[in-house]
Amino acid sequence: MKIFITREINKEAIDALRKLNDVELVINPKDTTLTQNQIIKKAKGCVCLVTLLTDKIDKGIIDALCPELKIIANYAVGFDNIDSEYAKEKNVAVTNTPEVMTQAVAEHAIALILACARRIVEGDEYVRADKYSLWEPDLLLGPEIASKNLGIVGMGRIGQALAKIAYHGFGMKILYHDINQNEEIERNLQADRVSLSSLLERSDFVSLHVPLLDETKHMIAKEELKQMKKSAILVNTARGAIIDEEALIEALRDKEIFAAGLDVFEKEGCVDERFYKLDNVVLTPHIASATYEARVSMGECVVENIKEVLAGRPPKTQVE
Ligand code: GLV
Ligand code: GLV
Repeated sequence: MKIFITREINKEAIDALRKLNDVELVINPKDTTLTQNQIIKKAKGCVCLVTLLTDKIDKGIIDALCPELKIIANYAVGFDNIDSEYAKEKNVAVTNTPEVMTQAVAEHAIALILACARRIVEGDEYVRADKYSLWEPDLLLGPEIASKNLGIVGMGRIGQALAKIAYHGFGMKILYHDINQNEEIERNLQADRVSLSSLLERSDFVSLHVPLLDETKHMIAKEELKQMKKSAILVNTARGAIIDEEALIEALRDKEIFAAGLDVFEKEGCVDERFYKLDNVVLTPHIASATYEARVSMGECVVENIKEVLAGRPPKTQVE
């Protein structure tokens, strides 16, 4: 049985897959991304397709790989890159790697909040440029985060993990916007569920944790940015297209908000260069889940799901 991996993942997972019986493992090397046609050609005949979030798995690929294909195991929690509804129609299981990266992403959101508030990147550049020779009372000032309002858009697993760190670690007031109420978070963290406009108007920090769907695309656009405080900081570790980047660039340029911390961009792997000219934005290359712990666990999750499917059982983390 053929397992095709579109781009090399962590070694522990590869080793575990190699140990499976009757399996032919084909791995596309690390530094090459395959086009749709190349995936179809190289993955032909595979039962398991392991994908990265950079692979767009559409109807064409699914059709070409059926009827052999039984599972698309995405090495990510987000699965907007896969036509999962069509896969379902064709009886192909689609799995993701939830839970295991929750803490990593929440910690990265905190890192971006602190980097923006305390101007860590600007400070680093200042020192490296040899500009630091005298302590100055007004150098690189920013807001303290303790007791401030943190607005969390999307109170799923990652939103909740962030809420816990922010509440217990910094005594922040948690506001959240979600289609579902979360009574536990309201009780334990004194969080308030509010409308998106109310969250934007009241929050000192806004962090996005919704999946990318038709309904969440450009959820933060010109109007929404205008509703935010001038002193507010916006953080995105979810998916780039949740923010209208054009509007954000304008808002940052016109100082309509204090700063933004972005780990994701509208075009994956292709950052709008206008961001580079702005001091009030911190940019990271989609590394929110990039902890040693998360990568190993993501690999374990992929392997587990594949094992279940090869044994004729439903995989543990099949997407809805
Ligand atoms: C990362 O962005 C993921 O969805 O796993
Ligand atoms: C700052 O370093 C201080 O001592 O106030």
